[in-house]
This record gives sequence, structure tokens and C-alpha cells, in this order.
Amino acid sequence: MAKVVVFSGAGISAESGISTFRDSGGLWENYKIEEICSAGCLDWNYDATIEFYDKRREEIADKEPNKAHKAFVALKKRHPKEVALITQNVDDLFEKAGCEDILHLHGFLREVRCETCGFLDDIGYAKLREVHADGCPRCSHPLRPNVVFFGEAAPKYADMYKELQDCEMLVVVGTSGNVINTDMFLNSQIKYSILNNLEPSSAIDDRLYSKVLYKKASEAVDEIVGDVEAFLEN
Ligand code: APR
Repeated sequence: MAKVVVFSGAGISAESGISTFRDSGGLWENYKIEEICSAGCLDWNYDATIEFYDKRREEIADKEPNKAHKAFVALKKRHPKEVALITQNVDDLFEKAGCEDILHLHGFLREVRCETCGFLDDIGYAKLREVHADGCPRCSHPLRPNVVFFGEAAPKYADMYKELQDCEMLVVVGTSGNVINTDMFLNSQIKYSILNNLEPSSAIDDRLYSKVLYKKASEAVDEIVGDVEAFLEN
């Protein structure tokens, strides 16, 4: 359970060229969630769903972590026990920035898994059926992206709440708050909180945060890291 939690969303990867979901031109403007990212769509729309995640997986192959990823990974490495990185993102930019300890709440785009036997495989940036043409190598059932769809269980949330148990400083970066509303984390135990987004979100009450930075994550990150270091010193 960390003293400082850095909680991120799609906005932290935007400057690396990975589309967010709800900004103008975002992913959900071009795809229907109910067709490729909702519980059950693998039953009636398997091929289109696999194709959607194959495309997203291939798209992250050449993406590089930006200054924000690198700064938070360096912060975590300086304070491995006091700082926890939690992300809603399924890309691997924190890993590419050298992070070995991050909680992916909504899964990980490079991984595919079998819902029947639990087989899990990191296929890198390949198409699922390029690597596993005949389905699960253990039980031959169809494989799926290891990504949480809307309406599905998100088991890692339990780990998030455990991580938040001792949290005294919350940093929120690049999320609209539409799926996980970070306002609800702001209890009396949180002594200091920072909200960094490109612009206000109707799902977040920025009055609740000690500091609000409406700017790009790469432009805000030095100030944020400075505040975390100062907080940990006291
Ligand atoms: N720097 C900081 N914030 C940014 C930047 C940037 N360069 N660019 C965009 N943002 C902010 C936007 O202002 C917006 O508030 O990032 C936020 C992105 O919001 P969403 O697109 O809703 O993404 P996110 O909050 O991560 O979505 C949560 O929804 O679709 C599901 O599972 C998916 O994990 C995702 C979840």
C-alpha cells in the first residue's frame, strides 16, 4: 500500500500518438463500444472484435513513451515502496519506459488469454491468429484479448483499492473520470491531490483537488514530480 498513487488514463499516452477514447477524434467516435468492447461481443462479433484489438496492438508497436511516462517511472524507481503507478491504459508505454511494477486495471493489449483454461500469452504486436491460428494451445478454445470490456469483471480493481488504503497523496493524470471517477478516492486520508488533464471533464469536480493543472502531461509532469518529492520528504 503506497503513500503516493499516480493514477493515469489515456491522456498520458496521447502525446505518444495513441488515441484517447472520448476526446474529439477519439476511439469511441470511430467505433461502437457495444460492437467491439462490451461483454458478450466475442460471442456474436468475434472476428470484428479480434480485428479491432489486432489493429490497436499493431498501432502501439512503434509508439514511444513520452516525458510523462519516463518521469513517473523514474519517480517510482526512486521510491519503489512509497509510490504506486496505476493505469487504466492497456498500452505498454510505461513498460517501454522501463517500468516493471505497474497495475493495469483494464488489461494489457499485448496479451491474449483463454477464458476456459486461463492460458495467457504476450504476443507482442502480432495479430492474434498469426500466433495462435488454432486457438488456445492448451485446450483449443478461442482466445481473446486480455482487455476488460464494458460490463465485464475488472478483478484488478481490488488491487487498486488495496493500493489506495494507505494513500496520502493522489495524482490523477489524463483521465476523463468517465469510467473510474477519481473524485471518490478523495477521502480525509488524502492530504494532497493533483489533477492534471488537458481540459476540464464534466465527470470530475476539480474543486476537490489541491492542485489542478490543465495542460499536457509532459508539461505538467516536472511540477507534479517536484510536489511528490516534497511530499515524501516531509
Ligand atoms: N495530457 C494530459 N491529459 C490529456 C492529454 C494530454 N496530452 N490529452 C488528452 N488528455 C485528457 C483529456 O482531457 C481527457 O480528460 O485525457 C482524458 C482522456 O479521457 P478518455 O478518453 O475518457 O480516457 P480515459 O479516461 O482513460 O478512459 C477510461 O474508458 O474506454 C474506457 O477502458 C477504457 O481505460 C479506458 C476508460
